Amino acid sequence: MKVTVVGAGNVGATCADVLAKKDIVNEIVLLDIKPNFAEGKALDIWESSPVNYFDTRVIGSTNDYSKTANSDVIVITSGIPRKPGMSRDDLIATNAKIVKMVTESVVEHSPNAKIVIVSNPLDVMTYAAFLAAKKSRNEVFGMAGVLDTARYRSFIALELDCSPKDIQAVLMGGHGDTMVPLPRYTTVGGIPVTELISEERINEIVERTKKGGGEIVNLLGTSAWYAPGASAAQMVEAIVKDSKRIFPVCVMLEGEYGMNNIALGVPVKLGKNGIEQVIELQLNKDEMALLQDSAKAVQKVMKTLEDMKLF
Ligand code: LAC
Repeated sequence: MKVTVVGAGNVGATCADVLAKKDIVNEIVLLDIKPNFAEGKALDIWESSPVNYFDTRVIGSTNDYSKTANSDVIVITSGIPRKPGMSRDDLIATNAKIVKMVTESVVEHSPNAKIVIVSNPLDVMTYAAFLAAKKSRNEVFGMAGVLDTARYRSFIALELDCSPKDIQAVLMGGHGDTMVPLPRYTTVGGIPVTELISEERINEIVERTKKGGGEIVNLLGTSAWYAPGASAAQMVEAIVKDSKRIFPVCVMLEGEYGMNNIALGVPVKLGKNGIEQVIELQLNKDEMALLQDSAKAVQKVMKTLEDMKLF
């Protein structure tokens, strides 16, 4: 198995590093446009192999897409991250062009690869990559829900002083402040979270989750990378191991939840074919209204993409 990670910045390099440590693929190619950058990061990760105990070869490339040929999975992290005061949506003018070009280049060399988009604004970049790749929706999708639920679960673990491993949750919608964590579908060791935490505190945790990316941007002056990189690597693992994990993933909707022609986070089954099933939950009226608000926020950014006339 071969995986390419495009973009050797903080998120891409972390994804490659986490994936290498999992020791589940033969080769990782890390590619970046900045001369020698991916080579340096890849060599550094490879030099950790005797200590971290993995066989995965890690190779760097300065924009030479022939090195990515015949990848099974491609993770696209390219683009600029946000600075304090910026929303993810402010990145679209720069990142849309980059994601389009990168997607076309990777598809040319790996026509059968599953493509995981990580670039922001995530939902619209997934839509752009879907248009650029000209592949089925099962093969081009975005990482956001794994990260957003990870944040949500980690906050619940802090609240209850319990293991984050025991917290399961679903979160839907766009990767922005309108994302929809779903307490009704959140459990702690099988116990509904609503039996363990008051409604008021759950609402505060939900609000913190929605702004979780911004919380890190405010602390660091740039966006997060450990949790985003690890989350992307977890999706790659589900695909290469064909483990059929159930994750919230950003995917083009084809009538599910009454929506079409939009990429939005929903629960899916992830395996060797990419998205193997889109799961439709029986959302109640309030949850559905929140999901629709989130879709509206994503559609606003899609309009900016349309105005760019890239497609
Ligand atoms: C975040 C960025 C990666 O949520 O979107 O941290």
